[in-house]
Parts: sequence; structure tokens; C-alpha cells
Amino acid sequence: MPLPKAELHLHVEGTLEPELAFELAARNGVTLPYADTEELRKAYLFDDLQSFLNLYYELMAVLRTEQDFADLADAYLTRAAAQGVRHAEIFFDPQAHLARGVGMGTVVEGLSRALSRSERTHGVSTQLIMCFLRDESAESAMETLEAARPYLDRIVGIGLDSAEVGHPPAKFREVYEAAAALGLRRVAHAGEEGPPAYITEALDVLGVERVDHGLRCMEDPELVERLVRERVPLTLCPLSNVRLRAVDVLEDHPLPAMLEAGLLCTVNSDDPAYFGGYVGDTFHAVREALGLDRERMRDLARNSFEASFLDHDEERRAR
Ligand code: HPA
Ligand code: ZN
Repeated sequence: MPLPKAELHLHVEGTLEPELAFELAARNGVTLPYADTEELRKAYLFDDLQSFLNLYYELMAVLRTEQDFADLADAYLTRAAAQGVRHAEIFFDPQAHLARGVGMGTVVEGLSRALSRSERTHGVSTQLIMCFLRDESAESAMETLEAARPYLDRIVGIGLDSAEVGHPPAKFREVYEAAAALGLRRVAHAGEEGPPAYITEALDVLGVERVDHGLRCMEDPELVERLVRERVPLTLCPLSNVRLRAVDVLEDHPLPAMLEAGLLCTVNSDDPAYFGGYVGDTFHAVREALGLDRERMRDLARNSFEASFLDHDEERRAR
């Protein structure tokens, strides 16, 4: 039996497996610049975040209808449930779809179709987090928040993703303030490729209550002390860090040192179709590569519920 766990860092568009990409391409009359799934998989060799993002955005062209988004989310939830996920807080990137003429309603209604029945069909409770693309403008982020207004009953919070370096959190101060005023929870990617100062800025300027990745906090001992003291959760994605070359090999991942320092670490899959594993595979890989014992693995599973947006009663039921 896999350990029951929550997944808190998962981009739904990053769960698009090559097989489903080709199926949706055929359904929608979209031509992909790859002959078949094998050739597509060969393109999954990344040098950094940007080289991954180029492919990630390219493949989204196959997602066009509500049913496409429902099928995508349902395929993820099926795999996640099989790997012990009981609760998933799922990112989506509306600007990447709006730019292709796919409306906010299509995306949210489609994802909701799968998410609303997930507890019943998969035993997985879900929440949706809308991410802004940090390499787009602050005005575009604000327009996106406006476009999401009719759907905010389905969206628990906001996040910030895409190319990090050169796009510091403070660029999005206003939209985060507006989201807070609407009662939305706030998270942001910070310290994946960007410097530790971006983590501090995400906390102080955007008011985030959880940091996505946060890996580079280890370069700043004072920041580590603060994250420990304030019990700020970090949603680490070790397989992603290897594939995007933030660390050379999994054996070098700082997760054990981060746990040792007292950081509230969680382990997640990020973009599992691209990075070689869903969250259960990731738990298995870190246990093997980093020699974490059973108690440490249990800590990670427990942390995932503590760091989630579930309230205490919901948390107990999900475990
Ligand atoms: N980092 C930043 N943006 C992203 C990622 C990531 O790991 N995955 C999808 N968008
Ligand atoms: Zn991510």
C-alpha cells in the first residue's frame, strides 16, 4: 500500500502524456511536429527550465475543449490515486490557453468536470490553483484575475510560475493584493532557478503562505532560519530539479539537509509526464537515492497534509 499523501505542486498541463497528446491532436485536427510518441519522448531532454517550458507550451496546442481538460485531469487523478494521493492542489496556467483562443470557462469548466467527481471516483479530494505566467506582464496577470471572477467558487488560490530569472515576485504585488482581497490563498514558485532573495520577496511582498520549490533557500542560512521559525512549507520537486539541471543527480539533492535543518518540506511531481514520475514514483526515487528511512518518508507524507489548504478535520479524513 503506498503511503497516503497530498500532492501540492502539480501543473495539470504537465501531466499530458505523449499518448494522450496524440489522441487529443487527432480529435482536434492539430498536427504535432513529431511523428509519434516515441519521437516526442526523445524531445524530453532539457538543459534548464526554459528548454522545458518551450515544449510544455508547444504541446498545449492539443488542449481545446472542455472534454480535453476533463480527460487530462481525469488521467492525472487516476494515476495519482494509484500512487496513494488522497488530496491534490492542482495548478493550471490560464494565460497559456487564453493566448490560443481557449476561454477561461472552457478550462475551468473542463477541469471541474473531472475534479468535482474525483472524491467519489478516485478517493482524491482536489483544489485548483490558478497560476500567472511571470514572464507575461503584471497587467496581463490582472486581466486574468478579472477573467477568472465568474469561476472563483472553483479556485482556492493563485500561484506564479514559468520563467523565473528576471521576473521577481514584486512585479506581481498588485495582483496578489487584489487576490488576497478576494479571499484567495497565495503561493508562488521562488528559488527554483531564481536567487534566495526571490523567496524573501514572495513572502514579504506577495504574502505567500507556501513557497513552490524554494530549493535555493539553502544558500542563505538566515532565510532558512526564518522559514523554519515561521514554518513556511516548501513544495520540493526532486525529479524536476534533476531533469531541469537545478541539481546534477538525485543523490546530490539537498532534501536530507533541508529536513535536518527543520524545514517543512514536501515532495511533489511538478510535471510528471515530462520529468519521469508521478508523486509515488518520486517518493520511491528519493528514498532509494537519498537513503531516507521509513520514518522520514512518513514525515514527508505527514508534512504534505500539514502544508495543504485542508482544514484540520478535512486533513484527518484525507489521511
Ligand atoms: N517551474 C516554473 N514554471 C513551470 C514549471 C516549473 O517547474 N512547470 C510548469 N511551469
Ligand atoms: Zn512547478
